[in-house]
Amino acid sequence: MTNSSDSLGRLFDLSGRLVLMAGGAGHLGLPACEALARHGAKIVIADNRLDAAGAGVELLRGKGFQAEAVAMDLAEESSVHEAVEQVRSRHGRLDVAINSTAYTTGKSLEQMTAQEWEAGLRVCLTGAFVFSREAGRVMVELGGGSIIQFGSMYGMVSPDPRAYIPPMGVNPPDYGAAKAGVMQLVRYQAVMWGPKKVRVNAIVPGPFPNGANYKGEEAFLDRLAKKVPMGRVGKSHEVAGAAVFLASDASSFVTGTQIVVDGGWTAW
Ligand SMILES: NC(=O)c1ccc[n+]([C@@H]2O[C@H](COP(=O)([O-])OP(=O)(O)OC[C@H]3O[C@@H](n4cnc5c(N)ncnc54)[C@H](O)[C@@H]3O)[C@@H](O)[C@H]2O)c1
Repeated sequence: MTNSSDSLGRLFDLSGRLVLMAGGAGHLGLPACEALARHGAKIVIADNRLDAAGAGVELLRGKGFQAEAVAMDLAEESSVHEAVEQVRSRHGRLDVAINSTAYTTGKSLEQMTAQEWEAGLRVCLTGAFVFSREAGRVMVELGGGSIIQFGSMYGMVSPDPRAYIPPMGVNPPDYGAAKAGVMQLVRYQAVMWGPKKVRVNAIVPGPFPNGANYKGEEAFLDRLAKKVPMGRVGKSHEVAGAAVFLASDASSFVTGTQIVVDGGWTAW
């Protein structure tokens, strides 16, 4: 883009851009897909639940947006490679790659086995690496792009055990360790790919509990809300603005950093 006043008016325009969203059928992924599509992007939802990805695609198409699904298991290197190559050969471009997949064992510090720890890291950290490596490689070849990883407030601070009292399960130790690793991966890739016009950033959500998963857990949700300076948990569409910003030319000089969307959770 140029810095004419005309282009400033289109800072957030994603017309013609191809977005690959891993985990795009999820609680935070789908509203972000919709916001990106609203700004003109064509969306490819990659998910290991192809039925859920298909439902997301239907929802987006129903609103008049361009969307399609591709099967991808982030835990399988070959599956990630195939999905990215499929997008490249079908569309001839890859402008934005976002990873909003999630994985958790729910195991406590004392219970968690090394195998379970590694299974968590396999999706959240190794998966983040493989996905961004594959997407970044294509972007380097095609002349640039934007990679966005979803981190977590629990990659910045520990869960407060006073919020996770039974019957509520724990937030397991592998999760935050993987998310902290994702942030360092973001910085590393941003530095290595900076000269090649591939920007790499993270969105770091605070508490965005999916109501459907917390039926009967109102006391827990209340404890979470009380930990947020803004006094409430996040609504699923509230990460979408950060996604549009990082995907678009509005963030053309932003790389190697994170946007924390947590209502102030990590501020005190
Ligand atoms: N919801 C929150 O409160 C919260 C808070 C902090 C960080 N985050 C992070 O934000 C991101 C999105 O969270 P969410 O709440 O939308 O999660 P979600 O569970 O609703 O969605 C995750 C999506 O990833 C897909 N997925 C899981 N494993 C996969 C795999 N191996 N391969 C491909 N797809 C896979 C799921 O099918 C699902 O569609 C995650 O990275 C999560 O860790 C969420």
